[in-house]
Amino acid sequence: GRQTVRSYKAKAVEPISLLAKPDRESALETAGYNVFNLQSKDVYMDLLTDSGTGTMSDRQWAALQQGDESYAGSRSFQRLQKSVQDVMGFEHVVPTHQGRGAENVLYGVLVSEGETVLNNTHFDTTRAHIAAQGADPVDCPLTTSASTRFNGDMDLDRARNTVDKIGHELVPVIVLTITNNSMAGQPVSIQNTRDVAAFAAEINATFVIDACRFAENAAFVKRHEDEFTDATVAEIAREQLSYADAITMSGKKDALANIGGFAAMNDRTLFERAKQRATLYEGFPTYGGLAGRDLHAMAVGLREAVTSEYVFDRIDQVAELGGLLRNAGLPVYEPFGGHAVYANANELYHHIPRSEFPGQRLVCELYREGGVRTVELGQFAFPGTDRPDFVRFALPRRTYFREHLEHVAQTARRVISAADSTVGLTVTETPGMPELRHFSARLEPV
Ligand code: F0G
Repeated sequence: GRQTVRSYKAKAVEPISLLAKPDRESALETAGYNVFNLQSKDVYMDLLTDSGTGTMSDRQWAALQQGDESYAGSRSFQRLQKSVQDVMGFEHVVPTHQGRGAENVLYGVLVSEGETVLNNTHFDTTRAHIAAQGADPVDCPLTTSASTRFNGDMDLDRARNTVDKIGHELVPVIVLTITNNSMAGQPVSIQNTRDVAAFAAEINATFVIDACRFAENAAFVKRHEDEFTDATVAEIAREQLSYADAITMSGKKDALANIGGFAAMNDRTLFERAKQRATLYEGFPTYGGLAGRDLHAMAVGLREAVTSEYVFDRIDQVAELGGLLRNAGLPVYEPFGGHAVYANANELYHHIPRSEFPGQRLVCELYREGGVRTVELGQFAFPGTDRPDFVRFALPRRTYFREHLEHVAQTARRVISAADSTVGLTVTETPGMPELRHFSARLEPV
């Protein structure tokens, strides 16, 4: 097999501790069986998200010190712009506080009421921003099992059928999300990217790539798409993004930073319009709601993300966790994605009806048995969804060691051995908007 070589070592560490089991049980009760309500000090391993939770390099920390905090024309902005030009191939950059800010800025100028936007699969915030424009977000994930290495691809027949039905003048934008977070973090091939770009051109739509995990996606392309075996990850990343008219980016993912984001494009008119909207919602367009130091950290992180030492280490560690969980007996989605492992709670708890949130129960048990925080992406987070009750184990970048991964697997073993006697949950309180229920609701065992 492949030899895993860790491409970093620790220079600063953050102490963590594992609460005693009775304390974890009372923390869970206090949190209303919702891990979003837990204090981070009560969490031993935090796999809630890979967003903004990773470890920056010493070069990124050095870059923070050089942040230029000027309101306008900041050097840090220029550094970011140069990185986006070199690494991603876009001339113009509009920085934003994070990825969803970029979605607000870009879709706010591209999408109008009554229109439809196609995506391989919309991430939650993307879906919400399209809906906020009064438009209809339509997912076109693969339905066949024909492709096995690029399960994140868009199903073009579905896209075409949708366009035929509603008329192409009502489809201003087509999006590809790479990797496809809502589809188990699966990659998108360059062939599919080319086909989607051609289709968008044919119907005169703007082709946008949600590039949050573009470097992880490029690593999969190098491994599994024959045409690119000999290309570097950096070359592949640029090639894939070159087909898009614009991108939205979360700096909290493949810019390896703790905060930040941006939209980028080549078209001057689109840039000017995006800047206008960004000024309203994010800030002057050379800082976009960020400190200069944050722009600087992204500028350095983007370059690190497309090095093969970094990115293969990254996707291999996710696969390592996946293998350990599979060997522990947990039903996991394969092939493994780029940022997270997805477990199917319906298969583990086949006796718990979907209305009693088997996914959320699994999340709670992982915390109770091992202080491991994960997230439910099924019936609890997305009521009425027909996808399985997935539980996502997202790995922060460059943060955990093999021993941590083994702890997760050991925890899963204990959870599995108690599976038959585990009962479901019922929601007792739902403050706030129904779409955001999973962030604040309280539950209890049935
Ligand atoms: N697009 C995708 C595919 C994402 O995964 C995310 C965030 C965003 C856009 C929005 O970026 O958080 O910087 O505003 N995903 C995180 C997650 C929150 O846990 O999957 P953001």
